[in-house]
Amino acid sequence: MKGIILAGGTGSRLYPTTLTVCKQLLPIYDKPMIYYPLSVLILAGITEILIIVRPEDLSLFRRVLSDGSQWGISISYIEQSTPKGLPHAYVLGEEFLEGGSSILILGDNFFYAQNLQDTIQHAIKIHDGGTIFSYPVGDPKRYGVLVLDQYGDPVDVVEKPQDYISNLAIPGLYIFDEQVIEITRQLKPSHRGETEITDIIRYYMDRKNLQVTPFGRGTAWFDSGTSESLLQASQFVHTIQSRQGLVIACLEEIAYRQGLIDKKMVIRQAKMYKNSDYGRYLEDIVKTLS
Ligand code: G1P
Repeated sequence: MKGIILAGGTGSRLYPTTLTVCKQLLPIYDKPMIYYPLSVLILAGITEILIIVRPEDLSLFRRVLSDGSQWGISISYIEQSTPKGLPHAYVLGEEFLEGGSSILILGDNFFYAQNLQDTIQHAIKIHDGGTIFSYPVGDPKRYGVLVLDQYGDPVDVVEKPQDYISNLAIPGLYIFDEQVIEITRQLKPSHRGETEITDIIRYYMDRKNLQVTPFGRGTAWFDSGTSESLLQASQFVHTIQSRQGLVIACLEEIAYRQGLIDKKMVIRQAKMYKNSDYGRYLEDIVKTLS
């Protein structure tokens, strides 16, 4: 299975300026935001990744992430000049996907849980049609929201419901089979002027071909698209990392443990980042690697 990260969008919800910033390269605490969704895909076992970026950000992304070989993966890029909604990722990614299933993650989504790797790998393994995840939130109005029946089967999905229908938000992590490209082509833009991922979800749900994997208690999920959630995510990372002394989304550590790179590569990366806390952490873990 291949992976796509959608890293378009503007900074308009983060800053009071018309100047747009490349949000996904802003730091969540001590590393760029994009490291977090990237770490999720690598943990899920995905090694071929397409990143969708705005044309003005392409060179920056290339400088920060390069071609992914430093983490034993392959990263390619495609430009999206105007945001047309999340489903557009599938149109842009059509050639890259070569008619296969894919996992899409939004570039500003942050996940952290002890069993995250197992949960996502399992969802990929059993996936048939569409698979989404659910997560209870206090402010469902901000998200795509899912309604389950008494048996736990999905019966309704609504993008940013104004009236309460359920507290189950749908995080920005989606697994769809090859049908998604054709489904996307049939979509009509919503009142936001963009096509909606919830319409794709509805398509699979109506055909009883949608699996829902719950992220339960003990999972942290932030959509760091607002100043508030960006700060919350940073504080969360800081709290866990300083308490445990373990770095979240350290791509070299993950790639090494996944058998994608060798110790030499970790040492090379540690030297490159040696002046930062991230680099010092890499230097420390090198000592523990066999
Ligand atoms: C998008 C999706 C929404 C989903 C959310 C997760 O919202 O449309 O269904 O719950 O991402 O981050 P947006 O970021 O466009 O407001």
